[in-house]
Amino acid sequence: MTDANRPVAQVGHAPELLLFSEEVRRHGLMAGWEFQSVLPNEPIPVEQAFRWSWTETLRPMMVKAYDLVDPVKAERRNLILVNPAFQRAATTHTLIAAVQGVLPGEIAPAHRHTAGALRFMIEGRGSSTTVNGEPCFMDPASLILTPQWSWHDHANETDAPVIWLPGGDPAALSPARRESPALRRRHRSSGRAPGVRGPVAAARLSLGSYGERAP
Ligand SMILES: [Fe+2]
Repeated sequence: MTDANRPVAQVGHAPELLLFSEEVRRHGLMAGWEFQSVLPNEPIPVEQAFRWSWTETLRPMMVKAYDLVDPVKAERRNLILVNPAFQRAATTHTLIAAVQGVLPGEIAPAHRHTAGALRFMIEGRGSSTTVNGEPCFMDPASLILTPQWSWHDHANETDAPVIWLPGGDPAALSPARRESPALRRRHRSSGRAPGVRGPVAAARLSLGSYGERAP
């Protein structure tokens, strides 16, 4: 990008200046007046504005998925909100959002990943997300946070389906973080996060030792 109003246009292209720029690069430096030329003057959005209707799209599609998708095999019964600008699993260039449904008696198996995540409860009352052994009960408008690399599972022990909006920031979505690959790990012995059944204090002890042994 060239912009006559930017300082780069004012420093000119004198041979000694260009030689100096090359010299500083050899020392692991960069002439700041060159870098300014690649910074845009205003944000350039890469996403498209888009609306997903809860009543016309999200909820009816999830109800269809209830019969078709086994959450144990799929790990999660979710539908990702795909921004039309990307045509891939991305809602914005840094975030991924979805709707996830859990039927009565189902457990979305325990796992953890390097992406941080949140869950915003939409429909249903009394299900729970267990984060590192701590059960977090979910009512409409509840917000549950699962920090990076924390074990979590989701259980619906109520008598009605529940739906929430999960969101995350997987490294793969952000160009600045692509060199740090997203990792995920599923708990091998059961569907529940370690420590979920015991009292909180016991769960903390269990998690402390599990963290050392986890494969
Ligand atoms: Fe997760």
